[in-house]
Amino acid sequence: MTNDTGFVLWLTGLSGAGKSTLAAKLGPALAERGHRVELLDGDEVRTNLCQGLGFSREDRDTNIARIGYVAGKLSKHGVAVLVAAISPYREARDRVRTAVDNFVEVYVAAPVSTCAERDVKGLYAKALAGEIKNFTGVSDPYEPPVNPEIELHTEAESVDDSVHQVIAWLEANQLTAPSDR
Ligand code: ADX
Repeated sequence: MTNDTGFVLWLTGLSGAGKSTLAAKLGPALAERGHRVELLDGDEVRTNLCQGLGFSREDRDTNIARIGYVAGKLSKHGVAVLVAAISPYREARDRVRTAVDNFVEVYVAAPVSTCAERDVKGLYAKALAGEIKNFTGVSDPYEPPVNPEIELHTEAESVDDSVHQVIAWLEANQLTAPSDR
């Protein structure tokens, strides 16, 4: 059965908090439930739609506005859109919330110490050594959501636990339905 309920599942949190990992599992889970799924991941978007943008507040806000614009267009056509971007500024996220129907803010919360320990891309080591400037959580701010629809604690939960929480929220809010397969 197909499901044409569009929504924007916006994963926000520090680098290394688990946004992309969660999105990689949420995508197939939603596809199995009949959704058409698209993923807009900060790392990838910055190589095309947002190529050339840096990490100043202005550039990050532009990045988020562009991602939000595309996400809104897609969701209006019934796509389940997954966004994985640090999106550190509350105002920029709230602007997307205002512009988009069915905006689901997912705070992927993990302490900076955990993210730095994981250091999947080796960037925290460089940031802590001062080799990367304006690195979120180290030398640049991150403003946590005040009232996110969903808050996940990836330092304490398994990826599957987090995925189940998201799916359960979407079911409870009639944005998805259990797979009939
Ligand atoms: S956002 O702040 O504009 O939302 P986005 O999610 O697109 O950021 O990109 C973050 C990714 O860029 C990180 O996962 C990391 O790989 C890389 N990166 C490079 N420099 C920085 C920096 N100064 N701060 C944060 N991330 C950075």
